[in-house]
Amino acid sequence: MAEEQSQTTYVNVPADKARAFAQRMFEAYGATSEDAATVADNLVAADLRGVDSHGINRIPSYVARVRQGVLSAQAQPKLTQTTPVVAHVDGRNAFGAVVAKRAMAAAVDMARTYGIGMVSCAHSNHFGMSAWVVQQAVDAGMMCLVFTNSSPAMPAWGGREKLLGVSPIACGAPGEPVPFVLDMAPSVAARGKIYKAYRRGESIPDDWALDAEGRRTTDPGEALKGVMLPMGGPKGSGLAIMMDVFSGVLSGAAYAGGVAGPYDPSRPGDVGHFIVALKPDLFLSADDFRARMRHLYERVVDGEKMAGVDRIYFPGEIEILRREERLKNGIPYAQVEIDNLNKEAASVGVQPLV
Ligand SMILES: NC(=O)c1ccc[n+]([C@@H]2O[C@H](COP(=O)([O-])OP(=O)(O)OC[C@H]3O[C@@H](n4cnc5c(N)ncnc54)[C@H](O)[C@@H]3O)[C@@H](O)[C@H]2O)c1
Repeated sequence: MAEEQSQTTYVNVPADKARAFAQRMFEAYGATSEDAATVADNLVAADLRGVDSHGINRIPSYVARVRQGVLSAQAQPKLTQTTPVVAHVDGRNAFGAVVAKRAMAAAVDMARTYGIGMVSCAHSNHFGMSAWVVQQAVDAGMMCLVFTNSSPAMPAWGGREKLLGVSPIACGAPGEPVPFVLDMAPSVAARGKIYKAYRRGESIPDDWALDAEGRRTTDPGEALKGVMLPMGGPKGSGLAIMMDVFSGVLSGAAYAGGVAGPYDPSRPGDVGHFIVALKPDLFLSADDFRARMRHLYERVVDGEKMAGVDRIYFPGEIEILRREERLKNGIPYAQVEIDNLNKEAASVGVQPLV
């Protein structure tokens, strides 16, 4: 099925097909079937939720790192129990999704027994969309925090040099009718939005980015030569530093601008994560918690709307609706993206996506 959207041809691909393709690709690069399936699931989950910037289009950059020898497709993270409720994971330079999944599974296990589980991860890689890690806890009936650091893309507030990662802060809780899943990058806008404006010849708001000289700019071309700006000025900058304190400083991973970028072939990423799982019925009964989450949901979405707004959403709800729609109709990939993925597949003898 193909449709025309602003001169780009899109092809809707069933999620299962995209997942199987991604799995074959990672297997071709030496990952075990289980790990290949984990990374494939992580990427397709992002495409399903509409976080297209972190979907299967990341495959070429992930496998390039394996080819360059700066990411190990075979590595198995090593978990060390520090206290009954705390563990440390040495990611051993495995795929970030594999490390984060292992860490969250351990955190959930500890929380089941003791009410809380906390895992610090070092020597990991980019784990894509944080909501995928959050969902793992929510599916197990747990609340969670999911922090990560990332390669430098933003200045600290007042600066102009790339120092802080656009490191998402994420958390979740089971809820009705939908869980609470907040997953947000601390920049004003995603870099992908600047690329889109550039392609379309549009200007951007002057608070999204600085140009190469450290000046605010409305020109997306100049913005792409400069740095992203943190959301809320010093507050977004502070959140990005918070991700680095908890994920980088604490874990033993790279920090303070030291995480290698996904396109830097010179060294491993050395990303850090910080993961906490929490039982929701620690202080009240499970029924009380559920009823209170439902009340909160209703208060949020049934509130008075501002002018021009048709519906108020709970955090994560828009992505759930998009997922439902894409599970039904398939995930729209641009033909140029499919061509690129198929070229990558052909180079290692893997069957094309479509
Ligand atoms: N691993 C990494 O290093 C890395 C780095 C950057 C971004 N990311 C990922 O990129 C993704 C993009 O982040 P983002 O900040 O651009 O996301 P976003 O701005 O689209 O959404 C941020 C949050 O706001 C909520 N939201 C959005 N619109 C809403 C509305 N109208 N009403 C109520 N809630 C709403 C979303 O559910 C989400 O929880 C995230 O999944 C993040 O994990 C990952």
